[in-house]
Amino acid sequence: MNASTATSIQSADDANRKAVHSDMISPRFYTTDFAAMDRISVEPVRAEWDRMMAEYEGDNNHDHFQRDEAFAGEMRDGMASLSPEMRQEFLDFLVSSLTSEFSGCVLYNEIRKNVSNPDIKQLMTYLTRDESRHAGFINQSLRDFDLGIDLGNLKRTKKVTFFKPKYIYYATYLSEKIGYARYITIFRQLEKHPEKRFHPIFRWFERWCNDEFRHGESFALIMRANPQLLRGANTLWIRFFLLAVYATMYVRDHTRPMLHEAMGLESSEYDYEVFRITNAITRQVFPLALDTDNPKFRRGLERLFAISQAMEQAKARGGLIGKLKQGLCAGQALFAFAGLYFLPVIEQEISPQVRMEPAW
Ligand SMILES: [Fe+2]
Ligand SMILES: [Fe+2]
Repeated sequence: MNASTATSIQSADDANRKAVHSDMISPRFYTTDFAAMDRISVEPVRAEWDRMMAEYEGDNNHDHFQRDEAFAGEMRDGMASLSPEMRQEFLDFLVSSLTSEFSGCVLYNEIRKNVSNPDIKQLMTYLTRDESRHAGFINQSLRDFDLGIDLGNLKRTKKVTFFKPKYIYYATYLSEKIGYARYITIFRQLEKHPEKRFHPIFRWFERWCNDEFRHGESFALIMRANPQLLRGANTLWIRFFLLAVYATMYVRDHTRPMLHEAMGLESSEYDYEVFRITNAITRQVFPLALDTDNPKFRRGLERLFAISQAMEQAKARGGLIGKLKQGLCAGQALFAFAGLYFLPVIEQEISPQVRMEPAW
């Protein structure tokens, strides 16, 4: 069975429903404790912070998210080369990417409106600007297929999860950096194999992911300025978020293997390359990394994916048996996740300097 059959996108309604829908692996919307965020200080990293703000102010991508003349033709020819299944997985990729970009946009904008801390407010203004460009650019591509997402409606209707500020720092830091690693890996692959670039949007990924890289740098600076976030019992939370973000990405990517095949990639190979890059980057802030080369780690992720497939089948089956099977799968997933959580991690020295170059 094609993994993505259950969520096939045929109409704008399907696309909008998919964006609003929440499950274990779909991108979520978040909110936080704004008063606590007001109390955060970046004084210990002031020099690096001000340099970063100057980069945001310079806005080197202000003219990047515009289509060029070749766009329409490339899109027509490229999409014609895809099988219906590949096309479906690409649309799924666009909708989930748009949802994550817009999730960032909504969260950053909420923080911007609700804090008075001038450093945080200024940062959030720039982050909102960038993410709204990213989301808008993807939505334009969805509109080409008459699948545009109504962002106002998405904001009003999607379920919002509350996270304490420290969870926001861990989770958004990781999702920005993993976003960078994902986009740059695709960009480099298609740079080597331009014949596999079936949609022009991938040409935008290099400068695009430098935005994501810089967004991650901002959260790295916040955490380094408040080093209690990176010590003691908090390392257990870091471990949790690393695993949650890696495992979600792995399961989500493996539900659309043909998308990667169309780019000449294999989902596992792609994911482990993304983990390798992300692990290297996180030395700037986390005292530990997951050992993604450990065969037990790899088997654990395979198991989580198998459980998520069984869960989809149980949902499709429905009825009492379907419900019971879903409960069983949830228990198995929890057990597999715990098994992964307790695997040995790699302890690492945090790099003396916080800022890093996007050198991949
Ligand atoms: Fe973004
Ligand atoms: Fe971002």
